[in-house]
Amino acid sequence: MWEYSDKVKEHFKNPRNVGSIENADAIGEAGALSCGDKLKLYLKIDNNVITDAKFQTFGCGSAVAASSVLTEMLIGKTIEEARKITNKQIAQELDGLPPEKMHCSVMGREALEDALKNYLQEDWEELYEDDKKNGSMIICHCFGVSEKQIIEAINNGAKTMEDITKMTSSGLACGRCRENIEKILKKYVIKNKREKLNPIQKIIKINNIIETIISPELQKDFGDIELVNVDGNNVYVKLKGHCSNCANAKLTLKNFVETKLKELVDDEIVVLEE
Ligand code: FES
Repeated sequence: MWEYSDKVKEHFKNPRNVGSIENADAIGEAGALSCGDKLKLYLKIDNNVITDAKFQTFGCGSAVAASSVLTEMLIGKTIEEARKITNKQIAQELDGLPPEKMHCSVMGREALEDALKNYLQEDWEELYEDDKKNGSMIICHCFGVSEKQIIEAINNGAKTMEDITKMTSSGLACGRCRENIEKILKKYVIKNKREKLNPIQKIIKINNIIETIISPELQKDFGDIELVNVDGNNVYVKLKGHCSNCANAKLTLKNFVETKLKELVDDEIVVLEE
């Protein structure tokens, strides 16, 4: 049985601002009935300030409590202030939610985001592009854990999903982030396992892989490959036999040769035809 704070219980028993707003300036939705939780958020906005907020929700007690407290947090805030509200803040405002129920605060945050996107007619993808580039892209929305934090955990010794959960709490609630965390784990654990090579060792290893793994595969189709030069992460090769005049030569280099070398040596490698 989950432990709920008094505030969660209180908001569940006496939810504030239930219902809809006629002629609402912004409406946002999140969740899906098929998943058991759904929230519709209505906002009245005057002069850049949210003057009223109401909600209709279908879901558990924490979904009701999170939606209720969110409407209280929103009334009186400017659009700029509202868009900064995180799901963690919604949970904090309720004096916490059990980890398994953090997704209810995420649903509140998502409905708010949807409402503001509709109101501002903005494409927030641009905002996320910057996050993607600098690693602050949120992977676990329930606990606000970014890609950077997950990579840090891996660099500090996390090797499995369980390790990541212990170190960052991500994956502990709805579990929707688990698939992406597994992908990050796969990429960085493998990367960390790779031995550090000096330039000479790197050339020897690349040559070895080409001769023992890549070349035999190409020879099966009467083609072949030869290493010409290695300059940093640029690997120059020469395609031979059938591969040299094959219409799919470029695809072979990218999808097979480069992928193999990235996987086994360094994922910064770029393969170029000499
Ligand atoms: S997104 Fe819900 S646990 Fe990570």
